[in-house]
Amino acid sequence: MSGDITQSREWAALATDHDAVAGKHLRELFAEDPGRAERMSLTAGDLYLDYSKHRATAETVKLLVALAERAGLRERIDAMFAGEHINVSEDRAVLHVALRMPADAKLVVDGQDVVGDVHAVLDKMGEFATRVRSGEWKGQTGQAIKTVVNIGIGGSDLGPAMAYEALRDFADAGITARFVSNIDPADITGTMKGLDPATTLFIVSSKTFTTLETLTNAKVARAWLVDALGEKAVAKHFAAVSTNAEKVAEFGIDTANMFGFWDWVGGRYSYDGAIGLSLMIAIGPERFREMLDGFHTVDEHFRTAPFAANMPVLMGLLGIWYNDFFDAETRAVLPYSQRLHRFPAYLQQLTMESNGKSVRADGSPVTVQTGEIFWGEPGTNGQHAFYQLLHQGTRLVPADFLGFAEPHEDPDGMHDLLTANLLAQTSALAFGKTAEEIAAEGTPESLVPHKVMPGNRPTSTILAPRLTPSVLGQLVALYEHIVFVEGTIWGVDSFDQWGVELGKKMAMDLAPALTSEQPPDSAPDESTAALVRRYRELRG
Ligand code: F6P
Repeated sequence: MSGDITQSREWAALATDHDAVAGKHLRELFAEDPGRAERMSLTAGDLYLDYSKHRATAETVKLLVALAERAGLRERIDAMFAGEHINVSEDRAVLHVALRMPADAKLVVDGQDVVGDVHAVLDKMGEFATRVRSGEWKGQTGQAIKTVVNIGIGGSDLGPAMAYEALRDFADAGITARFVSNIDPADITGTMKGLDPATTLFIVSSKTFTTLETLTNAKVARAWLVDALGEKAVAKHFAAVSTNAEKVAEFGIDTANMFGFWDWVGGRYSYDGAIGLSLMIAIGPERFREMLDGFHTVDEHFRTAPFAANMPVLMGLLGIWYNDFFDAETRAVLPYSQRLHRFPAYLQQLTMESNGKSVRADGSPVTVQTGEIFWGEPGTNGQHAFYQLLHQGTRLVPADFLGFAEPHEDPDGMHDLLTANLLAQTSALAFGKTAEEIAAEGTPESLVPHKVMPGNRPTSTILAPRLTPSVLGQLVALYEHIVFVEGTIWGVDSFDQWGVELGKKMAMDLAPALTSEQPPDSAPDESTAALVRRYRELRG
């Protein structure tokens, strides 16, 4: 719908439902609704979702689905998959789903055979990755590559870095990957420590190829390489991933070693294309394609499943439910998998850069909170850090728990203990422990209030067989589409990111004032001018 969804009948019906449901404890919801766990669960590909531990009834779900319909979600999904320019502020199609369409799919957008283009790049990546993995690709001194260093930031870093960590067990060619992103010199110097230039391949990843951090780090890496092996070595030790061939050539990287993508892929939606080159070199083209198949499975589920049985739709709508009706401020994502330790950071860019907007796509202001704040850490580490607040704090923090049945390795049956912790936490969060139950255990009266576990804290549990490339693809696609659902309800453009531009420009304007050759008074405001002066004093 265009206009303000919060003025709709469907929104009002949810507000009424909230009044009825918010006063109920999950214990009551389960008692009143036997079979709830079975009914409030569904599968998408290999992902199983239990959403019964949510503060919602069957009626709530019905009303949320009605809201999605009112917001025109069906039409929006169809428009995205058809390549319409739904990124209105940049007048672009939004087609990350095309990055994982099978080769025989057909999609022509703006006169271009999108699927053909995608597979041409995938094939080129596959050939390159195979040559590097087999040792056929040699560095300047004739040695095979042992380390790939991806230089990029934001979507050109978080995706491949997260996925490489997640799929390390599948890195089978003896090639490790490292990732450099920050303009803090500690990042590149720390990352390159101990590396041998003769066996290192740099992949400079930048959609625009104009990003300060990436180009600066790439220059440092280039100087390090040239210093050791000479100018001619650049061709054998540098590749680029970008949409901007001109800038790649200007930087001095042979465009024969460039892997392209398109303006219809947002940076934060791009690691399943050429931005994933470092990952593909580590795990191999076949595993990479399995990951793409996983993405595609959930894309198809999202595109075709009825909303009431559609995992991204329901999870997105529950996000709206807590964010806008319960005024929850954040959502925790808690993977019970050490391999997913970068997943929350990855999701932060995906979700918050997409939906952290305060105007709708038509430029009018939104009237509710948008942009859920995502955060998290793997379990069980988080249990010994912030779960106290989740259990007994005053804030409501809905949480997604992610678990896997099969570990990659399992000394001493550790994996079952990991899963037991996941299940125990979601149960304790939902059902808690009453003062009566605690007193009945013989707890001294004065301690009872401290030990009460209020419960009624909502969670989703997602279980999958094993963290494989395919399952990772399915998980990432799930969250991409959750973002889409929420963005559609709020009516925002989830695919632009104008809010990051001003700070970038101001940093460039400010940089000269930090050096002693320049007068210090060019700072934009009084406070910043004082900080510049102090910085210069400290720097000497
Ligand atoms: O600053 C935000 C951003 O534009 C992200 O959207 C993007 O992923 C990142 O910078 C890096 O951009 P690029 O890939 O063009 O270097």
